[in-house]
Amino acid sequence: MSTLRHVPVFHAFGHRQGEDSLMMQLLAPKNDDIVIDCTLGLAGHAKAFLEKTAPAGHLYGLDADADNIALANENLSDFQSRCTLIHSNFRHLPELHLPPANIIFADLGLSSAHVDDPERGFSFRTEGPLDLRFDRSTGITAAEYIAQTNESDLKYMFRRFGELKEANRIAHALFAAARHEVLRTTTDLVRVCDETFGYRAPALLPQIFQALRMQVNDELGALEKLLATAPYMLKPGGRFGIITFHSLEDRLVKRTFKNLAQPEIDEITGQIRTAAPFDLLTRKPLTPTAGEISLNPRARSAHFRAIIRTEQTA
Ligand SMILES: C[S@@+](CC[C@H](N)C(=O)[O-])C[C@H]1O[C@@H](n2cnc3c(N)ncnc32)[C@H](O)[C@@H]1O
Repeated sequence: MSTLRHVPVFHAFGHRQGEDSLMMQLLAPKNDDIVIDCTLGLAGHAKAFLEKTAPAGHLYGLDADADNIALANENLSDFQSRCTLIHSNFRHLPELHLPPANIIFADLGLSSAHVDDPERGFSFRTEGPLDLRFDRSTGITAAEYIAQTNESDLKYMFRRFGELKEANRIAHALFAAARHEVLRTTTDLVRVCDETFGYRAPALLPQIFQALRMQVNDELGALEKLLATAPYMLKPGGRFGIITFHSLEDRLVKRTFKNLAQPEIDEITGQIRTAAPFDLLTRKPLTPTAGEISLNPRARSAHFRAIIRTEQTA
């Protein structure tokens, strides 16, 4: 498994050569900051944070995937005394009792290591068990989900998470197939899609796999929990930034950040009663440049939004 192919999203591009990326400029890591990276992955962003927060900054890195924690540990070997890596879903962030942070960061979804490893079932291009869990120590696999779920729930899941117009047909086909045989592998799922959609199947497979992944990992549920807790774990002046890859996720982040940046208004006088506890750092989301997309096609649908905790919330 190669870690070299991994290019962290929004990491490489500033206005000018050698400048920090716009995302890093907005998050503004500085000497001795405390950073919580909720989605460590292969530690590309984490390494950048650690470099910027020398000499005494500390990074707490979470990942739901124990294998990625191990890879990140190797990639961060130069920074061991300044980082703490934790195998945990970020939905459990408040239970970890981490110190107040200058920066909290999340880069949602799957990592290149997931796609590269057929044993994880994330790729429709290679045969492997139909698993798709980030954390293999908990929950049910995509194969188990398909076997246990009725047709209308499958339909809802493909429409909502896969944004598929063909949700009814794929749900019907999978439900019918699962009554006769257990769909155990990625190839079993691809075969049902081929039989149902013929030459159109390859174009639909990314959304079909994406929907199953979002379902088995309860990705929106975890994001809701993160958005409800992380802002209050920031120090005054602390920054919270999220990269999303799905319109449902971006909408949730946009709505939450907008609410957090609203002052409390006196109903009678119309005057501001309490200033907003947060300010928006991004009125519009940051989206990748053409150069970044050509280097890293996964960046295509990325949106970055960030807020800052105002000083008066001390
Ligand atoms: C896009 S990758 C992060 C890449 C990382 N920023 C880098 O530079 O290498 C997302 C990572 O988040 C993890 N992940 C996804 N959902 C999670 C959750 N709810 N809690 C913790 N980790 C999660 C995945 O296992 C994956 O390793």
